[in-house]
Amino acid sequence: MDTFEAIASRRSIRKFKSDPLPDEILQKILLAATQAPSGKNRQPWRFIVVQGEKRAEMLNIMRQGIAHAKEQRGESGSSEWSAYVMEQAPVTVFVFNPDGIHPWLAHSIDQNFDDLVNVQSVGAAIQNMLLAAQALGVGSLWICDVFYAYEELLHWLGESCQMVAAVSLGYADEKPDARSRKPVSEVTRWI
Ligand SMILES: Cc1cc2nc3c(=O)[nH]c(=O)nc-3n(C[C@H](O)[C@H](O)[C@H](O)COP(=O)(O)O)c2cc1C
Repeated sequence: MDTFEAIASRRSIRKFKSDPLPDEILQKILLAATQAPSGKNRQPWRFIVVQGEKRAEMLNIMRQGIAHAKEQRGESGSSEWSAYVMEQAPVTVFVFNPDGIHPWLAHSIDQNFDDLVNVQSVGAAIQNMLLAAQALGVGSLWICDVFYAYEELLHWLGESCQMVAAVSLGYADEKPDARSRKPVSEVTRWI
């Protein structure tokens, strides 16, 4: 599959078959992530792969976090639906920025700029994962609803650095239509 085809045919997948992902496929997707560009080649990404029996624990923690968020903030966005997707997917990869700043603390301008650079780098790694998955016939979902269980998941995963997202992976059990996009002309200004 060429790059443009992978970009155009990729969809966010929210229904997965229960078939496991072979290890070599997962390794290829992770290798693609690490081949992303990064500011100063810092490669500010770390991955934790959750699969098999650990998924049930992950879901439990995610749902505890969502319940807590609901109590505290009175809402939990689409996180319950995302948790349901994570429950179906055979693999969820949590993606961290080890040099990242804590989202709830104040920071200096330099720290904020470094963080912007590092988060972009991690975003590039995540997009590489999604496109590699697509090229390998694997469905994916980029998930930031894990933020509703931010502290709970960090603690469970034994991490103290910045969590950027999670990516659920598996064989798709749906074929969603392409979601609409703003035309290039609307989002681009030519000078
Ligand atoms: C940074 C980011 C965070 C996202 N978080 C979630 C999420 O938590 N739950 C979810 O169902 N989809 C999530 N998505 C998927 C978007 O909803 C999806 O990319 C968008 O609707 C366009 O659809 P498409 O990916 O099929 O083209 C996220 C996507 C990005 C890039």
